[in-house]
Amino acid sequence: MSRFTEPQHSDFKALNSSIEFDRRLWPQDIAQSRAHARMLAATGIISGADGEALLAGLRLVEGELERGSFPFQADDEDIHMAIERRLTELIGPVGGRLHTARSRNDQVATDLALYTKQAAARAAESTRGLMAALLARAEQHIDWPMPGYTHLQRAQPVYLSHHLLAYFWMLARDRQRFAFAQAQADVLPLGAGALAGVSFETDRRMVADELGFATVSPNSLDAVSNRDFVLDYLAAAASCATHLSRLGAELVLWSSEEFRFCELPDAWSSGSSIMPQKKNPDAAELLRGKAPRVVSKLSALHGVMHALPLTYNKDMQEDKEGLFDAVETIELSLAAARGMIAGARFDAERMRSAASDEMLAATEIADLLVREAGMPFRQAHGVVAALVRDALETGRSLSQITPDELASHSDAFAGPLAPERYGEVLSQESWLESKVSEGGTALSRVRDQIALARQVLAEASEAQRGG
Ligand code: ARG
Repeated sequence: MSRFTEPQHSDFKALNSSIEFDRRLWPQDIAQSRAHARMLAATGIISGADGEALLAGLRLVEGELERGSFPFQADDEDIHMAIERRLTELIGPVGGRLHTARSRNDQVATDLALYTKQAAARAAESTRGLMAALLARAEQHIDWPMPGYTHLQRAQPVYLSHHLLAYFWMLARDRQRFAFAQAQADVLPLGAGALAGVSFETDRRMVADELGFATVSPNSLDAVSNRDFVLDYLAAAASCATHLSRLGAELVLWSSEEFRFCELPDAWSSGSSIMPQKKNPDAAELLRGKAPRVVSKLSALHGVMHALPLTYNKDMQEDKEGLFDAVETIELSLAAARGMIAGARFDAERMRSAASDEMLAATEIADLLVREAGMPFRQAHGVVAALVRDALETGRSLSQITPDELASHSDAFAGPLAPERYGEVLSQESWLESKVSEGGTALSRVRDQIALARQVLAEASEAQRGG
């Protein structure tokens, strides 16, 4: 029986149906149905025999879904209704007892929480894998100088290890964000019913324990209307994708003929269909290109949830496709980034010679005037700017400027500063090794950083094992 006299319009069915995308939640739906059936029987809400019949039926349905032989029907609105329909076909009317003390509202929230929790754990783990790959490459190239950039202009030299470790720390924050999303999804919604709770003495803790949730939701209204854990996952994925896009962009630049700082592994590159000489960094380009797609899923769900009255509203069915897409995209992106970082071959000579441009020592000379001649930094900046202009106008390097010319630029060069000191700061190694502040690129500081990174990585492995 139904309260409706007219059948649903076919366009409405198409609009309303979610089976095409939520069918991937079947493992979570079966798991929660099993836990729910056990709880119903254990609490005496249904008989032990009915409980057994439901569990046996769920095993059959699960088998069909696993083998891909589950007979989906055009009329299945979503995965929850499809599984219940099939269960009843297989075991008869007792199948209808499964939905006792449950609504699709707490059911879908539970499937999604399970899915998000698992996806967040996987993402945290792959993020950790990429962090490990970055750290390994940093250790391998600990003292390879390269130019550091601002505005994509050579600014000051840094070690390649220092540059790679910058990504390590970005990803360390992403890993924490994924872990946070995982914890946010670790709360059982099931038992909230449609919105107000259910009129049976259920045992929600039993269901939570069986499904591996840390706790149960304290408010039934919040339980069925909460999608924060999805937003948290998407926020983590968005910032991670954004970081990967910056890494991808650098790999594209670095592998170009113009830079030639690195060569990407063949396994992560494509050839051109027309230009046989080419090796295209497609995977790195896609790290760049996929990021806005992930970010858009976050803002789309914020849009869906915005101003939505409590509790469940069908709008919320729009939570799924964006989440699924973000999960797939970030997982592939993390794998690609790891493959490229692990297999890239860096060119020590190209990097070193790009970093040996003497102009990169300009700040060093200014700092020297401050340190050894007591000059205010702003004034020193002016003196060096004039030196740089002089060198550029006369087509010389900074080291080709004579001591007399130096003295004419500033008395400091004639008095407190010996000309040898000027010469010394023009060596590449001194520019790198002078950056001794905590977190700087001097080798001793990079070594401290590597020790810290190892510790963070060990803690992440520990957390992963514990969680
Ligand atoms: N397919 C629905 C969704 O994804 C399941 C929940 C339906 N609940 C309802 N009251 N119509 O949100």
